[in-house]
Parts: sequence; structure tokens; C-alpha cells
Amino acid sequence: MAQSLAGKRILLIVGGGVAAYKSLDLVRRLRERGAGVSVVMTAAAKEFVTPLSFVSLTNAPVYDDLFSPTDEQEMGHIQLSRAADLIVVAPATAHLLARAAQGLCDDLATTLLLATDKRALYAPSMNVRMWAHPATQRNLARLHGDGAWFVGPNSGEMACGEFGPGRMAEPLEIVAAVEAALAQGADLPPVADLLCITTAASLAGRHVVVTSGPTHEAIDPVRFIANRSSGKQGHAVAQAAARAGARVTLISGPVTLPDPPGCRTIHVESAQEMLAATMAALPADAFIGVAAVADWRVAVAPQKIKKDDAAGAPALALVENPDILATVARAPGRPQIVVGFAAETQNVVAHARDKLLRKGCDLVVANDVGEGSGVFGGDSNVAHLVTREAIDTLPKMSKAALADRIVAFIAGSFSSARGENA
Ligand code: C5P
Repeated sequence: MAQSLAGKRILLIVGGGVAAYKSLDLVRRLRERGAGVSVVMTAAAKEFVTPLSFVSLTNAPVYDDLFSPTDEQEMGHIQLSRAADLIVVAPATAHLLARAAQGLCDDLATTLLLATDKRALYAPSMNVRMWAHPATQRNLARLHGDGAWFVGPNSGEMACGEFGPGRMAEPLEIVAAVEAALAQGADLPPVADLLCITTAASLAGRHVVVTSGPTHEAIDPVRFIANRSSGKQGHAVAQAAARAGARVTLISGPVTLPDPPGCRTIHVESAQEMLAATMAALPADAFIGVAAVADWRVAVAPQKIKKDDAAGAPALALVENPDILATVARAPGRPQIVVGFAAETQNVVAHARDKLLRKGCDLVVANDVGEGSGVFGGDSNVAHLVTREAIDTLPKMSKAALADRIVAFIAGSFSSARGENA
């Protein structure tokens, strides 16, 4: 096991949720990577797991009392929060998030969150309706604004029998977020730059269709024309939408990536197949065309083209492919939100605006894929969010973080259409 967290001190605050049992495994995973872990439990947490379990796993005392004379003598609460390199709150229940957002300090856990000079990483865990409630979303937004990081929640079946976002991130996902947070060092980046961050966006009850990857256009039965799209951004968008609670249909061209969890993935080869699969997947609330669809296909030869030295190189006759994005944007029963991508090498924003109007999108995510940008096949992206009204130039961020931004835009558009505060 690589000691990726050697010498790091993590203060783990365990809230009172059913996912508290997963925090036992989290302690084990952090310790096997070399981290020292101190545990603080809320009173409610002790209803789910015993302090003794954490004592056995950490070989250290578990703290739970703000007014304990012995604990204060041994290590005061200010010291406890300052000694840590990172505070992790897992599970972060709706109640704990609400208290932290208000700056309340009515027990040891919340006092530490107020007394710390470090940013905290929260792993929310709660019932899907509690997660979607405007009060919780307000608290998340406030903590987010104060600099908190979030990992999860995941979507799925919950202990209460309901389905949707609210399930605490898995221990290894939290470990990855801890590693990402600590890797940033003292010079902390904007929140969205971190991997594994979810925004407070909710797409519960929405159907989202995403295209991803390249298309392969056959020349003959054995050859094809392709492009360099890896599908990483499109798959990240599909996964982010699923994490936000949407029912996701992902229509993927040929990629080497695994199907993202929580999405219905349909595999296609050509632009024509992608169009057919997309139209069959409608109706949808949102469509996000991330695929690098080939602009042209070849008038296909029915048999393998033979090399013929006398005749020289064969000429390929190209036929224009249908534009999937424009077709969806103009379809009867058009999705409420249609998002396109514009990979450009020059005049990025101007071309994106032109595409927005020409193809009838609500948002175009414009990225510079010029030489040296490393966008194709890479893990990060530099993008501008271009709408009819505004241009939002984003800092360089991971494709996962950009996916969360796009999901937040879509969720915000649905909220404002309903006249809510986004
Ligand atoms: O015109 P351009 O190919 O740059 O437009 C890119 C955007 O249009 C992307 O969102 C892409 O998924 C979409 N597109 C499409 N069908 C095509 C070509 C592009 O959906 N045939």
C-alpha cells in the first residue's frame, strides 16, 4: 500500500447518520496510507457506532465532550483542530451541515469546525428529500462559499428505501478527495478545481441525455475515419448528472473508458447511429452534446478497397453527417436545456457564440484545444461557458469539476424556470 498520506494528520468528525459505520472503514483506509487519524464524535454518532470501535482502529482516544476536564487538559479543542492537516466530516448529516453553516458551536464537533484555521471536507449523507430540501441546499451553498469542500453524495438506493442522491461517498472516494485536498497544499485553489467535488445541484427526477466520445465513420468494411476524442469529458458529464440525481442516458461512441456508474449507456459507432440512438432516447429534460461527432462520413465501399499501384491512391467521397445537436435543439418537444461543446483552436469565444445561435443551444461550453493545451485525452480542461447573455471564463479545472459546473448550470436553469432562487 503506497503511503500517500504519510505524516498527515486527519481530524475525522463523525456525525450521527447510518453511514457512520462506513467511517470505521474510512479510518482504516486513511491509516493504511500512513495518515494519523483523530476522531471526534457527535452525540448522535454514538447512537450508530460506539467510540470503542474507533478507539480500537486508531489506538487513540475518541473525543466527544466539549466540557471534558481530562480531554481539555490533554489536548484543548483549539489545539485539536489546529494540529490537523485536514478536517474531514463523514458522515456530514443535514443537521451537522446546518449547524456548521450557521457557525453554531454547541458541541465539540461544531466548536472545532469554528475554531479551525483549515478548510473542511464534508461527505454529506442524508435522505434524498432532506438533501434536495432548499434549506439543505442553502446551507451547502453557504459552506461552499465559506471555502468548504464536498465529496459526494452518491446516488443510489438508500437505507430508508428511497432512491436518489444522499448516500455518503464510499471510503475510497473520500480518501481520493482527501489526497486531492492535501495535494493542493496551503495555497488552496477555487473549490471547483478539486476532483470529487459535487456542487449542491440537484437534477432529481430529470432525464438527461449525453453524447460522448468520437464517432467512427467507415471507409470500407475494415477501415474507418476517427478523431482523438477520449470521451473523458462526456463520461464525466454523464456521471455528474447521475450523481446529481438525474436519470441519465449516455450515448457513447467507441471509447476505452468503462461505462460510468448510474447511467444507461448505449454504444454506437457512427454519427448516423448516434443520431438514431439520441432521437430514440428522447424525450429528455436536458441534452448535452459532448461527442466529437465526425462532420463527414465516407460514401462507404461495400468491399475492402484493394491497393492498386497502377490506379494510385483512391479518392474518398465525403458526405455531410447530420448535426445531432442542431437536430435535437430544433426537434418537436425539444429538451428544456440544450448544451453543446465547441472545441476551437482560435477565436474560441466568438466561434462559440456563433455556434450557440446557429445550432439553437442554451449553453455552449467552449474549450481551446489548440496545440499544447493537452485537452484531448487529458484530465483537465480550460473552458468558457457561453450563453446568450453572458460569458463565464473558468479557470483550468479537472474534467470532473467542469462536469459539475455544467450540471450546476442546468440545475440552476431548471430552478430559475420554476421561479426559485437557484
Ligand atoms: O460544429 P461543431 O462540430 O464544432 O460543433 C460541436 C458541437 O456540436 C458539439 O456539441 C457536438 O457534440 C455537436 N455536433 C453534433 N453533431 C455533429 C457535429 C457536432 O451533435 N454532426
